[in-house]
Amino acid sequence: MLTHDLIERKQGLLIVLVILVIAVGGLVEIVPLSFTKSVTEPVAGLKPYTALQLTGRDIYLREGCYNCHSQMIRPFRAEVERYGHYSVAGEFVYDHPFQWGSKRTGPDLQRVGGRYSDDWHRLHLINPRNLVPESNMPGYPWLAQAPANAADIEAKMRAMRSIGVPYTDQDIAGAKEALKDKKEMDALISYLQVLGTALTVKR
Ligand code: HEC
Repeated sequence: MLTHDLIERKQGLLIVLVILVIAVGGLVEIVPLSFTKSVTEPVAGLKPYTALQLTGRDIYLREGCYNCHSQMIRPFRAEVERYGHYSVAGEFVYDHPFQWGSKRTGPDLQRVGGRYSDDWHRLHLINPRNLVPESNMPGYPWLAQAPANAADIEAKMRAMRSIGVPYTDQDIAGAKEALKDKKEMDALISYLQVLGTALTVKR
């Protein structure tokens, strides 16, 4: 008989049972998430990143922008008033990997799309002090010179498609052309300008 007394005396048994209880509790919490529509289905209007935006996303990763910027607006009044509608899971289903981040040296960027002009971003990225004198964000002037890397864009899009991003053959075939004559700066800005725009809720 598995009496309380026995379980407390036999440490090995206690450990096994504790692990079992935690495992079941964890699965009960986690597994349903994989089947919950509001978490696994894209919000209406969400489009996969274009070739240019995807290239910009990779520059965002390469430059470590996520070290200072989150892309996750929490459902608190102070956050929503500052940044806009809080983030919902369905906005990130094509983001592999998503850029939620956990550190905010600078502001959250999830709804920065459309907030400034492309020219604003260009000046700001070349030297943030151009526009925000007290900024401690580094400048990224070389992005304005470096050509956007088109060499592996098709492979990248195919990789994304293999994990569920709905790129068509046409999207992939046109990818190299879309990056022609583009600079890394153009790619990064086109990425920033689409952030958070799928959820069209008035701010
Ligand atoms: C060392 C930390 C740091 C890094 C790294 C950094 N930023 Fe920033 N960023 C800031 C700070 C601080 C601000 C607020 C002041 C300003 O606007 O410059 C800011 C502001 C911004 C803004 C304006 C946001 C708004 O709502 O006004 C954008 C866009 C931005 N950063 C994009 C980027 C991108 C893209 C990268 C990577 C290429 C990057 N940042 C890297 C610290 C950083």
